[in-house]
Amino acid sequence: MQIPSVVVSVVPSNINKNEAFSLRRTKLFEKLPDKSLVIIPNRNVSFRSQDLENKFKPDSDFYYLTGFEEPNSICVLKKDSGKNTFMLFVEPKNKEKEIWVGKCTGVEGAKSIYNADESYSTPEFNEQLKKLLQTADHIYIPFGNNKDLDLKITSYMGEVKKSNRSGKKTPSDISDPRDFIHKMRLVKDTFELSEMQKAIDITEEAFQVAMSLTKPNMFEYEIEAMIDSKFRSLGGIGPAYSSIVGSGANATILHYINNNMQIKDNDLVLVDAGCEFNNYAADVTRTYPSNHKFSSPQKDIYQIVLEAQLKAIEEAKPQKYFIDPHNKAVETIVEGLKSLGLLKGSTQEIIDTGEYKKFYMHKTGHWLGLDVHDAGPYIDDNGNPIKLTPGMVLTVEPGIYISNELPNVPEYFKGIGIRIEDDVLVTDTGNKILTAGIPKTVQEIEAIK
Ligand code: GLY
Ligand code: MN
Ligand code: MN
Repeated sequence: MQIPSVVVSVVPSNINKNEAFSLRRTKLFEKLPDKSLVIIPNRNVSFRSQDLENKFKPDSDFYYLTGFEEPNSICVLKKDSGKNTFMLFVEPKNKEKEIWVGKCTGVEGAKSIYNADESYSTPEFNEQLKKLLQTADHIYIPFGNNKDLDLKITSYMGEVKKSNRSGKKTPSDISDPRDFIHKMRLVKDTFELSEMQKAIDITEEAFQVAMSLTKPNMFEYEIEAMIDSKFRSLGGIGPAYSSIVGSGANATILHYINNNMQIKDNDLVLVDAGCEFNNYAADVTRTYPSNHKFSSPQKDIYQIVLEAQLKAIEEAKPQKYFIDPHNKAVETIVEGLKSLGLLKGSTQEIIDTGEYKKFYMHKTGHWLGLDVHDAGPYIDDNGNPIKLTPGMVLTVEPGIYISNELPNVPEYFKGIGIRIEDDVLVTDTGNKILTAGIPKTVQEIEAIK
């Protein structure tokens, strides 16, 4: 069944946390036909080693609709005869377990703290599910996210169909609610924007400290440690993804996370890092000289990337398409590389043949939010590119990467890798660079003491 598309209005700025989550559920309910059941299971814990757990991050769709953060939980939204019911299935309180992992919210807390209309312990889910399926015509589950749930539902429906003499009813369709939820997540409400701003403020401070304390002969991991330590000491959960600190030619490796080399005197250092705060991510890149002075070839390349980034950001405004900043960045990079003799020929031909990709091989951005590479469509329901609208947050992150292995490149350009990444909010009138407080121009970077 097709889920109708929606424009989500912005949550008022004076709203509290519970109201913000409740409003999202209301938006979702409004779009559902009667006799619908939406089931969103949370993630479970993952393990770093043997039975030692990683820090838990809830499933983003689950969190978006509930605000609840404990594993082994399930959100059910039931719409029946005009009545909307928010159900939470949660880990029951367990004194033995609490000795190891601390207190959990429990079944009562799901109602009193998270405003669930009904709450149950997760082991009760199977029994409840059978009853719920008998009252629903339309089932929505995120296919493939929880194979156990997929199987449970299809098996149950199969069983009931076989015993049709019992008179039990089964739902007429099963579909995926994520297209719809992700459209909502694409346009941030004000509560989300305030959470994102906290992740961004911490990230800004971490970059300012790391950029000013970087010195030649440090190891990359020392910069990583400064960044990650700020993320945590300022109240974030830590890095939203493994921080990238690549010096010299390591900066030409797009997802370099070893961070174990010594930084040379004339190296550029590429730092790509973002704090996670209340499940929201920031995502920033700066590239700067370890000795706080750009060499001439480094500056040549840097200025091209900067120009590409600034021009791309100008494209990030209402009525433009998501792809417009990328197209502008590519065009600017091609022109710039031509001016340095690194590319030759007509700009259009270089773009059409993709020849520029030996220097710039990734796209210029992505949605940002609960996930670093956030949910949300890049094309609309008709297969057309998504238009930018106020409330969307995207990264703008062009780069030039001149690998040591590239033939026909002057030695002085080899091993230079530069990316500049900001987080940009589309507004009514254009955009706001959320990460504007981090030094970016050559002048600003060279002035860092
Ligand atoms: N840090 C990952 C990215 O920029 O997409
Ligand atoms: Mn990044
Ligand atoms: Mn990014």
